[in-house]
Amino acid sequence: MFRSFKRLSLLLLMMLPVLAATAAAPGKSAIASAHPLATAAGHEILEQGGNAFDAAVAVSAALTVVEPFSSGLGGGGLWLLSRAEDQHSVMIDGREVAPGAATADMYLDEQGEPIPRASLDGPLAAGIPGLPAALVHMADQYGRLPLAQSLAPAIRLATAGFPLYARMRLGLQYKQKLIQRWPAGAGIFLVGGDVPEPGHVIRQPDLARTFERLAVEGRDGFYAGEFADGMVSAVREAGGIWSAEDLRDYRVVERAPIEFSYRGVRIVSAPPPSSGGVALADMFNILGGFDLAGLDKVTRIHLNVEAMRRAYRDRAEYLGDSDFVAVPVGMLTHPFYADGQRSSIRLDRATPSSALPGYRGEEPKGAHTTHYSILDADGNRVAATQTINGWFGSGYVIPGTGVLLNNEMDDFAIKPGVQNLYELVGASANAIAPGKRPLSSMSPTIAESDRGVIILGTPGGSRIISMVMLGLLSWIDGADATAVVSLPRYHHQYVPDRIYFEPAALDEATRKELESMGHELRESSRLYGNMNVVTWDYAGDEVRAASDPRNEGGAAVRVY
Ligand code: GLY
Repeated sequence: MFRSFKRLSLLLLMMLPVLAATAAAPGKSAIASAHPLATAAGHEILEQGGNAFDAAVAVSAALTVVEPFSSGLGGGGLWLLSRAEDQHSVMIDGREVAPGAATADMYLDEQGEPIPRASLDGPLAAGIPGLPAALVHMADQYGRLPLAQSLAPAIRLATAGFPLYARMRLGLQYKQKLIQRWPAGAGIFLVGGDVPEPGHVIRQPDLARTFERLAVEGRDGFYAGEFADGMVSAVREAGGIWSAEDLRDYRVVERAPIEFSYRGVRIVSAPPPSSGGVALADMFNILGGFDLAGLDKVTRIHLNVEAMRRAYRDRAEYLGDSDFVAVPVGMLTHPFYADGQRSSIRLDRATPSSALPGYRGEEPKGAHTTHYSILDADGNRVAATQTINGWFGSGYVIPGTGVLLNNEMDDFAIKPGVQNLYELVGASANAIAPGKRPLSSMSPTIAESDRGVIILGTPGGSRIISMVMLGLLSWIDGADATAVVSLPRYHHQYVPDRIYFEPAALDEATRKELESMGHELRESSRLYGNMNVVTWDYAGDEVRAASDPRNEGGAAVRVY
């Protein structure tokens, strides 16, 4: 008996390194991002010996160049990192902050009403950028290569240029009038004030020089000295309120991610100032009390919607920058709290949003931001979502820098109950205050189960959270990376009280049944998503990368 136990122990011991190797190192690297040139930039850095974090610096920087309407040096982002060697997970919060001169009512007129587009257009709409500081921090604290090496592909792309593609051209058509207002941006993106033809080469030599300065001087190359003073002067001249102190004092923050479990799957996502992780935990805790597999399709969709409704209601009520307001994260992510919410859900009827406590009123719009996912051969993981908020952000490029500023100030609740760009409402928790970070929906997420790992996220404003939720549910049900990004989507965000859906998401019979339960439906030709996913199935060390088929992203798996 003893001998056979010893033999068994020995066998297990011999197997351990094999199991550990399987779970810790895929031996392959994968990147999925919104643009093939950004994905190639990341792989170039991996091939040079960089790890996933160096590759993240390269991809973030390259996206600044080739997807300038979504994110960039003039904006911010959230980088969820998971280090293989010690299983350390952290979120690098490079979110923009409100300038020191910002006030709670800065976008309201004398009657206390919102001034149209004041929080959206021009430098008054811009928070202090966090992306440059985040790149420096990631390279210094987590990378293997010098910052300059990881920025090199972006500098090359900004100098040589890239051909204008359909989605960017669409954005230019949409924002042409805004971009025409300031010569620096018009000179980069328009030709004689017009939107160029597809294939026109977009060169950004000023942006290349700004990256070079960052590469040589690090953080100070952007946030201090003559360069920073020049940005402040230009912003103030164009109607903004930045100061040199705002730039000097900007800091990225390392935050502990939100972690929770759903049916044996460990899910790690973004904490405040994002609402993503809290809302996902809330939704999955609600759903965890239902036997979804035993229910029909319509009831499952109904329950997903009811979970979304309740989580987005809490987002509006409680979420904000936890450095400024007490966000009850422990309560909102607690399974007992979800038990209470679940008890108000009927299987056969929609709950009107107006029946939930603290209901606030409604208006509509669109979105932009970007997400990428990386897994390196050692098993290091990055889920990163970065943004300048709306298409082309504030529309304002600081002359001589190539830096297109965000309009992230619109992510604050500029007045309680007034909807922002994404129809989201908020309360005092997300009111504007100097140095505060606006509430985000960005939800870079990593989940792990016995099956393997998924790294995912998407742009899409308020719809990010529900897209990540549906993506996770489909992966948990067995979908692969391609199926996850291709999934037809639907969305509910409490206010407005309706389900938005892509045509393929709900067939005619399902629509009728949902309507008969009291749901209002509205078809969207697309739900703004642009999901990028990497998966690693432990069985056979199968690594996959997939970009959303709705757009032109780049996904590639390589062995170095
Ligand atoms: N700017 C979009 C978000 O952060 O949610």
